[in-house]
Amino acid sequence: MSSVVVITGSAGLIGSEAVRHFAGLGMDVVGLDNDMRGYFFGADGSTKGNLERLTKEIGDRYTHHGIDIRDREGLDKLFAGLGKNIGLVIHAAAQPSHDWAAREPFTDFDVNAVGTINMLEATRRHAKDAPFIFTSTNKVYGDLPNSLPLIEQDTRWELPADHKWYGGIDETMSIDQCLHSVFGASKVAADVMVQEYGRYFDMPTAVFRGGTLTGPGHSAAELHGFLAYVMRCVMEQRLYRIFGYKGKQVRDAIHSSDLVSAFEAFHAAPRVAEVYNMGGGRTSNCSVLEAFQIASSIAGVEAQTEYVPENRVGDHQWWISSTARFEEHYPDWSVKYDVPMILQDMYESNKDLWKP
Ligand SMILES: NC(=O)c1ccc[n+]([C@@H]2O[C@H](COP(=O)([O-])OP(=O)(O)OC[C@H]3O[C@@H](n4cnc5c(N)ncnc54)[C@H](O)[C@@H]3O)[C@@H](O)[C@H]2O)c1
Repeated sequence: MSSVVVITGSAGLIGSEAVRHFAGLGMDVVGLDNDMRGYFFGADGSTKGNLERLTKEIGDRYTHHGIDIRDREGLDKLFAGLGKNIGLVIHAAAQPSHDWAAREPFTDFDVNAVGTINMLEATRRHAKDAPFIFTSTNKVYGDLPNSLPLIEQDTRWELPADHKWYGGIDETMSIDQCLHSVFGASKVAADVMVQEYGRYFDMPTAVFRGGTLTGPGHSAAELHGFLAYVMRCVMEQRLYRIFGYKGKQVRDAIHSSDLVSAFEAFHAAPRVAEVYNMGGGRTSNCSVLEAFQIASSIAGVEAQTEYVPENRVGDHQWWISSTARFEEHYPDWSVKYDVPMILQDMYESNKDLWKP
């Protein structure tokens, strides 16, 4: 069996979790990351520290390349050298923020959309049979989830229990004719292209549309990394600004290790041109207000929050993913972490780092 896994965004939250996981399974990992997160979000966002920890921890099984995924020739050369040894590609490098994308639409599109076709084409030319996993986003559904008939409860917005998507929104929701944000649109382009390389070229590609992906490896920044930033603000006694929806907006959250175990299941039994909504579902979800209640009780301190009535453009008022399609294809997989466990894990991992 081909034993090299190529992982882009290898120093980021999902990439670094995937590096650890697949190296732990005995695969050689080739990681690509140019620390562009530092450019996007400043020093708070840099993944340089993650990379240093990773290189020390994994040793010889990990080889790092600072290649930019916009560098088509660089990617082609790297893939040509590895050739058929490549047994899996996980493409997790991206410009991941809604709000940032509007600052530099060309950069956002070049990284998210063009970077993805660069990766697909390098794979098609040199390792066509390797499963190709792409981390898409639920933002491909734009603001359509906001048209759901939500009801207001004490601490959250909620769907009526008899609604077909009460258990979570599935992949049949349209991605068309709605407001996406510049980021959402560049991810749609990448998402559809990954499907197309599956259908048109018969490659084993899969799109994982994440909700809130999170875990202790998150370099928490205000513009990206919701739960990590909540925990960090509580622990550092920093002011957190809640944008709109009375703070009752609901997200489901999936721990990076649960996501990566889904990647492993796909790698073991790949399919062609699949699309999966991927999140914590009904097991792991919370509103912003509820996240603060849980984080404050874990840290034993009051949260400092400020309410800004205007919501973020295209922000979801309620999102819970249905993972039924994935579970039907991979019945051994399930979510292991819920929100309190995720926040506890963040607290333990960062208690020497995040102080008032
Ligand atoms: N974290 C979430 O809540 C979430 C939710 C839905 C989807 N996603 C998607 O999952 C993927 C991974 O997200 P994450 O949270 O791990 O992000 P992250 O920012 O932690 O990691 C991405 C990594 O990619 C690197 N990178 C960015 N541009 C690059 C380029 N041009 N060349 C090489 N490397 C580059 C960054 O330096 C960073 O280390 C992204 O595609 C993101 O859109 C994330």
